[in-house]
Amino acid sequence: MSMATDSATSGLHLVGKLLDPASRPDPYPVYAEFRALGPVWVEEISALVVPGYRDCETLLRDHRLSSERWRHFDAARDADPYPPDAPPSVRQPWFLSMDAPDHTRLRRLVSSAFTARTVARMEPYVTRLVDDLLDEACEQDTFDVVSGLAYTLPMTVICHLLGVPTADERLFHGWSAQLTRQLDGFSAPGDGEEELWAGGMVEMHRYINELVADRRRSPRRDDLISELLAARDGGDVLSHDELVSTLVLLLVAGHETTVNLIANGVLALLRHPGHLAALRDGQPKASVLVQGDGQAKASPLVQGDGQVKTPTVVRGDGQARTSAVVRGGRVTADAVVEEVLRYDPPVHLTARVAREDLRVGDAQAPAGALVILLLAAAHRDPEVNPDPDRFDPAREQVWHLGFSAGPHFCLGAPLARLEGRVALDAFARRVREPRLVADPPPYREHINLRGVSELRVAHGGR
Ligand code: HEM
Repeated sequence: MSMATDSATSGLHLVGKLLDPASRPDPYPVYAEFRALGPVWVEEISALVVPGYRDCETLLRDHRLSSERWRHFDAARDADPYPPDAPPSVRQPWFLSMDAPDHTRLRRLVSSAFTARTVARMEPYVTRLVDDLLDEACEQDTFDVVSGLAYTLPMTVICHLLGVPTADERLFHGWSAQLTRQLDGFSAPGDGEEELWAGGMVEMHRYINELVADRRRSPRRDDLISELLAARDGGDVLSHDELVSTLVLLLVAGHETTVNLIANGVLALLRHPGHLAALRDGQPKASVLVQGDGQAKASPLVQGDGQVKTPTVVRGDGQARTSAVVRGGRVTADAVVEEVLRYDPPVHLTARVAREDLRVGDAQAPAGALVILLLAAAHRDPEVNPDPDRFDPAREQVWHLGFSAGPHFCLGAPLARLEGRVALDAFARRVREPRLVADPPPYREHINLRGVSELRVAHGGR
């Protein structure tokens, strides 16, 4: 048997292991096997699977790869899943799945309205909301971090950002669970799920179409929809369908991902009580500011031993990297967020389509094939992150692709970082003597947006 056949066989074997629900609580040993194998073409799924950090980072910027995944997946679907009377916006592709120049145009228009200022002014609201949610949760002897904090926070924040009336928020909670499947992309739909998903999508589009029409009639101040309606790039504006489709993208892309960041963060802290204590006793404020333009500013810190240290800031992939910031052995919530994004990321993989024949290491993929970038495997590549299986928010440097890299770098990263920082910091300070009720906790079936379905915590009272 040739080498090529060997690796193809083990590639398929590893894909099978990854898809097995038994791997959900801890897929990292399977990722280590993928890394040992290197980039591999898996004939049965017509995909090139890439597990190494440097390969993933390079490919995320490679123009020979396209983000128009829907062409690939739609080809595998038999029919348009939407009813004929669905609003036209439902067929408008998300810019997440577009390439330049269309992607560049839409992203530029949306970024001009969804700015660092938009996010910064959300902070008091996010802080108040987290405090209220934890007040309520701590009334019980045990509470579920997912339903009590991680799930509610991002959905309520996005609804607030869009100006959805509070009474309608529950509609979004109902739709979100169905829509996540679409973003996960790698879980086969069960019986009737495709229709359920398409139905949820159509209802959500109808609602947002009306919301946009309402804002067009009576624009508001400090409201993202009104700002997107006013967004201009030279003479260019967003069309109605582009605007609606973008709002749905913000909702879908910003919800389950942030749920996972908060829940994975709490889980990691509960499994590492030393770091939880360090966070509780540490400084809540950011010490490294990552600005909208990807530049970072670091302020010198006085360490426990009295020495002054400037935190290392490493620039890679056009985004500044925060290093872990240690204050006399204490850890900041920003550092915890970055380490969670590396160690147990909310998004495990992303995919591209090869525009032309491609070779990565010893593996080759023909034009039109899917290229699967195993981000969660890349984060534990010892070539970039030493001792990668250790959760350590006090690392000197943390390298991750948790928000991707290149032209599709997550547009919501500042909002996700804000929510993660506020939630983890408040959890550490407010919840006394927290303990996991079940370890491992139960996981949802999703492979890509992998996360716990429940995270029950017992605590020592208010
Ligand atoms: C894109 C992760 C939160 C909006 C992405 C991508 C990743 C990602 C990996 C790029 C996928 C690719 O390259 O194929 C995350 C994680 C989050 C998070 C881990 C939470 C911890 C948010 C939030 C929002 C958001 C809160 C907005 C409210 C977007 C948008 C894109 C995107 C609009 C598309 C960017 C583009 O294609 O140019 N995100 N995201 N995300 N994310 Fe996020």
